[in-house]
Amino acid sequence: MPATYNYEYSKKLRTGFIGCGGHAYRNIYPTFQYAPVNLVAVCDLDPVRAADCAKIFGAERHYSNHSEMLAREELDVVFIVTNVDEAGRPRYPTLAIDCMRAGTHVWIEKPPASSSAEIREMINASAKTKRHVGVGFKKMFFPANRKAKEIINRSEFGPITSITARYPQSLPPFEARSNLKKMIGFLDHIVHPHSVLRLIGGPIDCIYVNRNDLVGSAIASIQFSSGAVGSLHLSSGQSPTSFLERLEIIGQEENVLVENNVRVVHYRRPKEKVPYGRSSDYFGGFSDGSAPLFWEPEFSLGQLYNKGLFLLGYAPEVIHFTTRLLEEKGPEYGTLDDAFELLQIYEAYLQPDQMAHRIGKPQQRDDLFVC
Ligand SMILES: NC(=O)c1ccc[n+]([C@@H]2O[C@H](COP(=O)([O-])OP(=O)(O)OC[C@H]3O[C@@H](n4cnc5c(N)ncnc54)[C@H](O)[C@@H]3O)[C@@H](O)[C@H]2O)c1
Repeated sequence: MPATYNYEYSKKLRTGFIGCGGHAYRNIYPTFQYAPVNLVAVCDLDPVRAADCAKIFGAERHYSNHSEMLAREELDVVFIVTNVDEAGRPRYPTLAIDCMRAGTHVWIEKPPASSSAEIREMINASAKTKRHVGVGFKKMFFPANRKAKEIINRSEFGPITSITARYPQSLPPFEARSNLKKMIGFLDHIVHPHSVLRLIGGPIDCIYVNRNDLVGSAIASIQFSSGAVGSLHLSSGQSPTSFLERLEIIGQEENVLVENNVRVVHYRRPKEKVPYGRSSDYFGGFSDGSAPLFWEPEFSLGQLYNKGLFLLGYAPEVIHFTTRLLEEKGPEYGTLDDAFELLQIYEAYLQPDQMAHRIGKPQQRDDLFVC
């Protein structure tokens, strides 16, 4: 899809921003070059950071108190990219609800909350104020993952039968899981692999976790509502020089592999049957039309697709949210419903290992229970 530059949009959203920290500076403000955003005001508890960000990214005004910004400015949408509070809780639910009550749509980074109850509060506020909320589940927007989704949606791929994913995350021991501060790292990251699994496999019915005590690595066995089975390998202990992630989706006589978030291989259903016992090389008998298809970026040209801003989903997630708002629609991906399931999955990981946990839906079930 060709990108539109900020100055080419005929209509733009009057935008505020809460948070001028490292991630916002590196990865979110720069996406506005490609989104229908008129950055009007920024806010950070640190007034110097706020002033710097306003100057660098072209905001008209800066604040050190978000309530003052919301009271003084007329904004269509507010982006929130903040850290955790003293207790270790992401600040998004409180700030997002303040923004919705002030009449703005909201985009929040991950992790959106520390509990599914807080996500429900945001769902209720969104319904009451009729304001939309987008959540920064960037992996739902990685071009490689979107390509995999496009392939698996084709009828020839057949229904998804199994999915495996790998992500280098350590699961703290059970005794640490009631301590929010000890869980910050896990909460921060577990939404990443599970947002891809949700994008690809849809909702989850049940999850069962085995854990290794030495490094906290774990294998989660997953039952998707669609009937597909899956596993997530939390591969803590791997070498830091290794690529971090791998995703494989199996259909019926077809599979797709996404390695290192950029390399996509599509193993297609062969057009011919090769008899067993006589083939002397692995090309023999198969036509080129049966060969695997392989994509990776060329990393030579100054194309947008070579930027981390696009490869890692940051620009696509912001473009998706803001252009949908211009059409008076909420996001299709990175929704509060996605967030609700992901926080329920997080809550399942808080339970003792080696028990199966059912994952509920917002309207259907309030609590996790043991299968
Ligand atoms: N998606 C990703 O790839 C990715 C990568 C890194 C970080 N993140 C997420 O981005 C968020 C920010 O991370 P970071 O590393 O930039 O943190 P940071 O500590 O560098 O920045 C947070 C900023 O928010 C400000 N802030 C906190 N509360 C505020 C409030 N009430 N009003 C105004 N400003 C407030 C702080 O002063 C600070 O400047 C976290 O949720 C983190 O998980 C996402």
